[in-house]
Order: sequence, then C-alpha cells, then structure tokens
Amino acid sequence: MNFKLNELEEKQSFKKEKKVIWRSPSNIALIKYWGKKEKQIPANPSLSFTLSKSYTETSIVYKEKDNSYSGSLKFMFEGKENVPFQKKIEGFLNNITLYFPFLTEIQLIIDSHNSFPHSAGIASSASSMSALALCLCSIEKRHFGTLNRADEFFTKASFIARLGSGSASRSLFPYAATWGEIIENSISSDEFASVLPFDLHPRFKNYKDAVLIISKQVKKISSTVGHGLMKGHPFAKERFKQAKNNLKHLLSDLQSGNEERFIEIVEKEALTLHALMMSSNPGFILMEPNTLKVIEKIRDFRENKGIKLCFTLDAGPNVHLLYSDNDSDEVEKFIKHELVPYCEDKFWIADKLGEGPIEIL
Ligand code: DP6
Repeated sequence: MNFKLNELEEKQSFKKEKKVIWRSPSNIALIKYWGKKEKQIPANPSLSFTLSKSYTETSIVYKEKDNSYSGSLKFMFEGKENVPFQKKIEGFLNNITLYFPFLTEIQLIIDSHNSFPHSAGIASSASSMSALALCLCSIEKRHFGTLNRADEFFTKASFIARLGSGSASRSLFPYAATWGEIIENSISSDEFASVLPFDLHPRFKNYKDAVLIISKQVKKISSTVGHGLMKGHPFAKERFKQAKNNLKHLLSDLQSGNEERFIEIVEKEALTLHALMMSSNPGFILMEPNTLKVIEKIRDFRENKGIKLCFTLDAGPNVHLLYSDNDSDEVEKFIKHELVPYCEDKFWIADKLGEGPIEIL
C-alpha cells in the first residue's frame, strides 16, 4: 500500500526533469476556414487532408520551478533561442492554465523544428501548435493518469491546438478531419476537430500533395488580420452558407469516391478564398502571376490527359496539386517539366496524406 502511494507521488511529482516529444503534421484545407468568432470559434465548418512529410517535431523538457533560468519558459526554434516565438508561446500557455493547472508549477524548455525550410512560405502554425498541444496532453496523462482513452486524448489535444491556431485542431487525425458544427452531424464540433465518420474512399487515401512553392516570401497578411476581414464582409453570410453546403457534398464524395465533384468543389473553395480576400476591405491579392500560370497548366493537363487532379491554395501564392498515387508517373513528369519552372528556385515539396501525429518519446 505504502509502496503504491510512493509510486503515485513519484508519478505526480515534477521533481525530476522529464521529457516528452511529439511529431505532428501540417494539413491542407479543402473546405476553407476563413472568418472566426470570439475564442477561436470558426464562422463555418472546414475539412482538411492530413499531410505526412511536412511536420513539426516538438520536445518539452520540464520540471518543478527552481528558477534555474529566468521566467518559466525557454523556447528554442531550430536549435536557437527565438524571442518573438517565445513571447507568443508564453501568452498561449498563460491562456490555457485553466485546462492544464500544472503549468503554474513547472518550468519548460520547448524545442521545436520543422521538416520543411522556414523560408518555404508554408504556414507552420498548424503543425507547431498541434505538436505543442500533444506534448502538454502527454504531460497531463503521464503525471495525472487522465486522458487514457485515445479519443479523450486527441479531443483535448485538438481543443487546445485550436486555441493556439484554428487550423491546428485538424492536424491530429489520420487522413482527414472536419472542424466546426455541421447541422445534422453531431460528431463535428466548433470546439475541436474530429476524424471523418466513415472510411475515406481508397482512391483518396493514397492521394499526394505536391506543394509548388511559387514564392518563398512570408505571408503578406497574418491569419488574424485575414479572418478579421470577414467581419462585415459583404459576401460573408452567403459564404458561410456555401461552405456548409460544399462540406456536406464533399463528405459524401470522400466516401463514395466521386472524384469529379470532389475536384469541382476543391477548386471552387480555393478560388472563393482568394475572391473573398480580393473583395474585402482593404482587399488583398495574394496570388502571383505564376500562381495563375500553374492553375492554367493544371486545368489544361486535366482536360488533355483525362487524369483527375486538382489544385487548392492557402492564403498565399503557393499551389497544392492533389492527385492519386495511381497517376504518379505521369503527374510527376508533368510537375517536373511543366510546373517546376514556375516555382521559386525550382522548389517544391512532394507530400502525401498521412496517418497523423507520432509520439516519439
Ligand atoms: C486559409 O488557422 O492560420 O489556411 O486560427 O488565426 O491561427 P488562426 O488561423 P489559421 O487560418 C487558416 C486559414 C486557411 C484555411 C484553413 O486552413 O482552413
């Protein structure tokens, strides 16, 4: 009995330094989250594919506070101290002590690195905030014996990741995830993302995502500013309705394997996102001439070869080309010969759908 008590005390205590590591992927939205309410509640539901090769690996070394360094957090990015990121993370951790009260007792050294170059123009908030949320959930699980069921664990991680960055909530699930209330579908919530309520059609499971880096420049507008543009946007109401409808149809296509309608919806969503940005006040043009060239080439290739592939865009100039692994040979030749010349420094990332995060330690 005594032995058990000591064991429990030892488990709960933060006296000895410990370490946790998670690797979490980025995701690409097919139905776009654009516009939010207070507390990171999305204005419309969204759906994304989970990637595998673009990820963030985050480790946290933690122990009881002993003032061995100033403050209670040291944040390292790609092996170097990074003050701006540290400030952002400090603010985030302060906001979530309600959900992790132990954060007031410990000091942390967080070390984070991305599998993709920082200058690739790829947003890393989804992979980095989800990796951080997973690490915090692991600390809770190890020390307090809670979150033992996988669904509980990933739901809390998704909820916490969402508070850091909305799209991060969707990075935690195999292949695809939805986030945001869809009427008639009680599984999807505004508070956290969830896995699809059915098996993804095999044709989509082996989808690849070629991320064509048209420009390596960092984002011209931050997501906070971007989402803010939807407040009072003249098309907001219709847009939120459209996103819900698109999502319902896309869910059915992802189950049945209806690639034609999938392509139609995915491209419409990408162009709508940019149309909303262009028509907001102030308006932004984030596509570049080469973005349009690549889009045109993709549409011509689809028409001429009869191969089903499509594009989507983030809030920036880079193009994500989605295609089935069954068509890899032809599509990858097309990428190398016809699309890569439009990429900055000929840079592109060959990614694909993946199984979600991995616990490393
Ligand atoms: C265009 O998740 O980066 O990529 O919640 O403010 O961190 P915050 O925004 P963020 O927005 C992503 C916008 C998008 C579309 C999407 O991923 O759904």
